[in-house]
Amino acid sequence: MPLVLIDSVEKHFGDNHVLRGVSTEVAKGDIVALVGRSGSGKSTLLRCVNGLETISGGRIVVDGVDVQSPDTDLALLRRRVGMVFQSFNLFPHLSAAANVTLAPVLTKKIAKDEARDLASRMLERVGLGHKLDAMPSQLSGGQQQRVAIARALAMSPQLMLFDEATSALDPELVGEVLRVMEDLARDGMTMMVVTHEMAFARRVASEVLFMNQGRIWERGTPERMFGSPQTPEFQQFVQSVV
Ligand SMILES: Nc1ncnc2c1ncn2[C@@H]1O[C@H](COP(=O)(O)OP(=O)(O)OP(=O)(O)O)[C@@H](O)[C@H]1O
Ligand SMILES: [Mg+2]
Repeated sequence: MPLVLIDSVEKHFGDNHVLRGVSTEVAKGDIVALVGRSGSGKSTLLRCVNGLETISGGRIVVDGVDVQSPDTDLALLRRRVGMVFQSFNLFPHLSAAANVTLAPVLTKKIAKDEARDLASRMLERVGLGHKLDAMPSQLSGGQQQRVAIARALAMSPQLMLFDEATSALDPELVGEVLRVMEDLARDGMTMMVVTHEMAFARRVASEVLFMNQGRIWERGTPERMFGSPQTPEFQQFVQSVV
C-alpha cells in the first residue's frame, strides 16, 4: 500500500469541474513535484489530500486512512499530514518556540520542558536553533517560513504538503527555504510539493506531475520531463517558466 493513494478523484466547485479523474500513488520517501499553470488544480489536489476539501468522486487514502470516510477523524489525519502554505500564518503574539509547540502542547499535552526541548530540536532542524525566543515580527520572511516548517514537523507528520512555500518571499530569501525542504527530502520525508521552482523540482523530485485542466497531463522523472517533454502543453509550460 502506498503512503498516499489518489484514485480517480473528481472535484467540482459548483459548475467548475476542477479535478477530472486524477490518479496517482505516493510511496514513502517519494518527493512529488506538482507543476502547472494557474487554475490547473494543484492546490485543490493538495487540499483534498489532507481533507481541507471534500472530493466529489474517487478515493484518497493516506497512511491507510480513507480521507472522505465519515468515520475519519480529520483532526487526527491532519496531525499526520503537515502542510505549509505560501503565507506562513504564524501567531504574531507568540515566540518562534511557542508557535512550533502550540499544537503538540494542545493535542498531546506535553509538559513545558518537553515543549522547550521539542521547539529547540525542530528549530534546529530548519537552521533557527538560535531563534527560539524571537517574535515573528523580528524574523525575515524566509525565517518565518522556516518556523512554519518547524511547526509542521513538530507533529511528526508522515507526509508534508508544500503549496508554493516560497512564492511570497523576496528572491534572496527563497534559497534558504528551498534548502530546508531539500534537507527534509534527503532525510527521507515524503513530500508533495507545488512549486514554480523548476530547478528545485529537477534536482529534488522523484517524480514530476504536470497538471493541466484538472488532469495529470504528463508525468515522469525530472530527467525525462525536463529533458524531453512530450505533450505540446507541457513543452509550452516548460518554455514559459525557464
Ligand atoms: N474554494 C473554492 N471555491 C470555488 N472555486 C475554487 C475554490 N478553490 C479553487 N477553486 C477553483 O478551482 C480551480 C483550480 O484552482 P487551484 O487553486 O487548485 O489551482 P492552482 O493550480 O493551485 O492555481 P495557482 O497556480 O494559481 O495556485 C480554479 O478554477 C479555481 O478558481
Ligand atoms: Mg495554487
